[in-house]
Amino acid sequence: MGVQQVFYSVTQAARVGWYLGQYLVAGRLSGPEPLPLPAGSAPPPDRGAILADLRTLLRRDWSNIAAGLYRLPPDLVRDPRRLLHDAARFFRDVPAVARRRRQGGGQEMSGDPGSRALPRYYRQNFHYQTGGYLSAESARLYDHQVEVLFAGGADAMRRQALVPIARHLAGRSGQGLRLLDVGSGTGRFLTFVLDNWPRMHCTALDLSIPYLARARAALAPWSRAAAVLAPAERLPFADASQDIVTSVFLFHELPAAVRARAAAEMARVLKPGGLLVLLDSLQLGDRPDFDPLLHLFPVAFHEPYYADYVQADIAALFSGHGLRPQAPERAFLAKVMAFDRPAVGTDGA
Ligand SMILES: C[S@@+](CC[C@H](N)C(=O)[O-])C[C@H]1O[C@@H](n2cnc3c(N)ncnc32)[C@H](O)[C@@H]1O
Repeated sequence: MGVQQVFYSVTQAARVGWYLGQYLVAGRLSGPEPLPLPAGSAPPPDRGAILADLRTLLRRDWSNIAAGLYRLPPDLVRDPRRLLHDAARFFRDVPAVARRRRQGGGQEMSGDPGSRALPRYYRQNFHYQTGGYLSAESARLYDHQVEVLFAGGADAMRRQALVPIARHLAGRSGQGLRLLDVGSGTGRFLTFVLDNWPRMHCTALDLSIPYLARARAALAPWSRAAAVLAPAERLPFADASQDIVTSVFLFHELPAAVRARAAAEMARVLKPGGLLVLLDSLQLGDRPDFDPLLHLFPVAFHEPYYADYVQADIAALFSGHGLRPQAPERAFLAKVMAFDRPAVGTDGA
């Protein structure tokens, strides 16, 4: 085992311990939760099975790094004061999240006067989080909350979307190429993209002003990064203007009709010969023993469109627009779905 691999293993073990510990403590503080499984459903997998799958993801993450598909992330070791600060913020919000979960209170944002111009489906407290996607405090908390939810595996899952990009670029630097990340949130995924391909022109697109502000700050080290406020279902870009389009953890939060419009838009702006990469939650049947988790998740974390998403034919959304699906790759509780737009003059163009 080389020094880098030891470093990777130790820092990831510490991350899993840090975030899983917070998940367990937050669960204790929140009190018992009902388990609204459909009648006849199998019980959810035990913690051992989930953590074994997380270990598989981390092993894959390391082998991708060792194979040169992407770099060792530069921020595996975080400033301890920052970590403590984020944890304190997270725990301050736990009682409010637990109250919303108990009372089914996912609609506080619907009457928010500052957000009337935003679509109704968006003005909700996704994950029961305070402020929905509309406050600076929610944007500050988001990355930490997601890592707690996935026991420290969120970044490693996001990095699996780098694999089809690395294969597509096949050693090219990305100079002169444009990548659009739709629903980019705080820009975490794009920091991984730019860390690997700093010459690529990358655009973060999101509907949230505070999340985009965080993304702008996260992407400030790279001169070719931009941030755009717009809806996924009406992309402000010309046809065939992007070489790569990505989207991470967005589709499960869209109503079916909006999801279809967003897919059509993403396909429209992709150039012939381009690549589209979607990373999102597992769907029913991807790993059958995890199906009960997919039933529990939307109730425990207020995900109003998730039950529809887990049954949706995502590949059909894109193949209907001329894109060709690659084989999907499971990555812990997520999966990577990549699609090629055939180049002009090739079969199917
Ligand atoms: C679950 S978060 C995922 C964020 C990020 N991609 C990540 O890896 O964590 C969903 C993001 O999509 C954004 N979003 C939701 N609906 C959208 C829409 N119709 N158009 C653009 N962004 C949207 C939200 O503001 C939020 O930042």
